[in-house]
Amino acid sequence: MSKETQAPTTEVVSGWTDPTLDSVRGTETPKDPNKGYIALLGWSFNAIKAAQKFDRRYVVVAPDWAADFCQANNIPFIPWDFARLNDRSMEIAQRLKDDGVDVAIPLFEETVEWSGAINSVLMDKPRMYGQSILFRDKALMKRRAQLGGIRVGIFEEAYEKDDIIRFMKRVNQTLLKLDGDPDDPIHVKAFDKAGCLGHRMIRDIEDIDKIPEEEYPLLMESHLDGWEFAVEAWIHDGEIKFLNISEYVTLGYSVFVPATKELESWRDAITKQIEKLIKTFDIKFGQIHPEYFVTSDGEMYFGEVAYRPPGFKAFELIERAYGFSPYQASMLVFDPKSTKEEVDAFFPREVEDAKCYAGCFGVYPRRRVVSKLEMPKETTEHPYFESHELVAPTEETVPDRSAFGTHWGLLFFAGDDPIKLRDLLKAQEELDFYV
Ligand SMILES: Nc1ncnc2c1ncn2[C@@H]1O[C@H](COP(=O)(O)OP(=O)(O)O)[C@@H](O)[C@H]1O
Ligand SMILES: [Mg+2]
Repeated sequence: MSKETQAPTTEVVSGWTDPTLDSVRGTETPKDPNKGYIALLGWSFNAIKAAQKFDRRYVVVAPDWAADFCQANNIPFIPWDFARLNDRSMEIAQRLKDDGVDVAIPLFEETVEWSGAINSVLMDKPRMYGQSILFRDKALMKRRAQLGGIRVGIFEEAYEKDDIIRFMKRVNQTLLKLDGDPDDPIHVKAFDKAGCLGHRMIRDIEDIDKIPEEEYPLLMESHLDGWEFAVEAWIHDGEIKFLNISEYVTLGYSVFVPATKELESWRDAITKQIEKLIKTFDIKFGQIHPEYFVTSDGEMYFGEVAYRPPGFKAFELIERAYGFSPYQASMLVFDPKSTKEEVDAFFPREVEDAKCYAGCFGVYPRRRVVSKLEMPKETTEHPYFESHELVAPTEETVPDRSAFGTHWGLLFFAGDDPIKLRDLLKAQEELDFYV
């Protein structure tokens, strides 16, 4: 289930009125009528909180289960079902245009092509829709990257089992494997799903047999080696205004910002890659979240790029480390009425201006049967521990882990020493939170 179609959690809706919201307390930042009017696509409570503390007019476009909550909390709201882009997409674009909205910001993968469709109408730039599809369809994305001279692995689309067998043989032939050498694995994934849904690493024919019919067509890729990392970059007028490097400790479990000296030592090379990406994908403004692999000799391989906030709460980590709101940063760079001066003044200096290192860890129960939440002392008594979002289990049997998106909650840490933080995040993997 995609995030923006999930019902809000009980904490969010209980009592309906949230006394911490500025709109409820009457402390919302006055809106500047000379600046842009922004539509937030998808339900994100943190994005709404940031918008209320910012001077841009905003409206939330989200599924209608959010209506009561928005009404109770004075949140400007337009209900919309993002299930699939269809002939009604013009309707929402026109409605926002009539209301005077200047730009739509995608908050989730599923709203990226909607933002493209809407912005192409609001800004009268028909190509924006096509551009958003490049961000959504991993096969198109890789082709576009390749056209721009960005290094990608070998990839192809598969329509049936035989395509995968042939691809795997050809990739390994290219690698000059001899008979009896173990094959290099390949990866298969859906064209347009995030959170590792449908992603499989394929090592042999049996793995191919396990792929259900309905997962075709899919994208096949050669295996990329190297140190994987992610970037969050804000772009205004075609230029990078802030570039964060997020360091994964264990992919799908833990990440922290800013990165260690070791990874930051690649910053110039990474910046060049992002500039290439901006040029190749013709990105004039917005926030991107690309993933790369860097090999020991400094070669950068492009993994993928998303035109939205990252799934793992890197926005919250950046805010903790630097003190600015990444959601506000996005509103600023998306707003066609923002000036260069305003944007430049908003962002701190990368790494230098960070006040601490901030990281999070996604908890998955390690046992098959659990009855309660029990926070280990090793975690809660560590000076870097800040907070957690874990709740008591609602079921006793732990469901199989299908995607990285399904962790049971995050733990947040912050401190001065990135190596200590990295080790601490790693150590969480050995602890039981659900017993
Ligand atoms: N070709 C590949 N080579 C090596 N690792 C890969 C490859 N494709 C995917 N992965 C691993 O799987 C993760 C998820 O795949 P990705 O294509 O980024 O999908 P998602 O949309 O779920 O983020 C990557 O972050 C990476 O660790
Ligand atoms: Mg990814």
